Amino acid sequence: MENQKIVIGNLKTVMNINDVSSYLKTINKEIVNKQVVICPTNIYIPYFLKNGYSVGLQDIFINEDGPYTGEVTPNQAISMGIKYAIIGHSERRTHLNEPDEIINKKVISAVQSNMQVILCVGETLEEKQMLKTDVVLRRQLVNALNGLNIEMLHNVTIAYEPVWAIGTDNVASNKEIERTTNYIKMIVHQNRGYKNMRVIYGGSVNDKNIKELNKIKNISGFLVGGAAADSEKFLTIINEVVVNQ
Ligand code: PGA
Repeated sequence: MENQKIVIGNLKTVMNINDVSSYLKTINKEIVNKQVVICPTNIYIPYFLKNGYSVGLQDIFINEDGPYTGEVTPNQAISMGIKYAIIGHSERRTHLNEPDEIINKKVISAVQSNMQVILCVGETLEEKQMLKTDVVLRRQLVNALNGLNIEMLHNVTIAYEPVWAIGTDNVASNKEIERTTNYIKMIVHQNRGYKNMRVIYGGSVNDKNIKELNKIKNISGFLVGGAAADSEKFLTIINEVVVNQ
């Protein structure tokens, strides 16, 4: 995965079982390889695994196996062949009040089990308008990566997802994404001594804008929400990013 672009599909909580079965029928398995990771709602994961997809969780628990009602642990995920976990998605930060400290524990717990972490960071519209983007990103990164050594950081990818771009059709400009990606790489280098942090972009990526977004030189792929739940749109994105690269 190191130098190849990756596409992560975050299916959130938008599908029911009928949608899942038609999705599995339409999406072409031939091109779904290890550079494409689908993160379904937990209860639907077995269907995706059975069909040979590379699967990720939309969240993960902070501890090892034990009496933690409702949670899924890294050990459990790994034992199912699930290698990826999205951590710190803005919807969890907002709707579940997930703080940086918990996100940090989740990142550590996942990388210690050898999972690949997709750590989401990004500023809100208000923060952007107050010119606080860099301050917010620095805080989120420093807190979430606290205590991680270089070896652990190898298993982390940062997803830059401006909150104002998620599900809004207000995609960030290539210039904005390129600048922010460089900033994120610089912070991780300064703060943790790790030079080659992989950064991907997420926020209103779709079949129409992917060609243009894919021109950005310093990113390593995309995290796709809404358009990933539409198999035709998702295939267009996959074709552009990982098949034609
Ligand atoms: P979106 O969501 O592609 O629908 O904007 C991205 C995400 O939430 O990861």
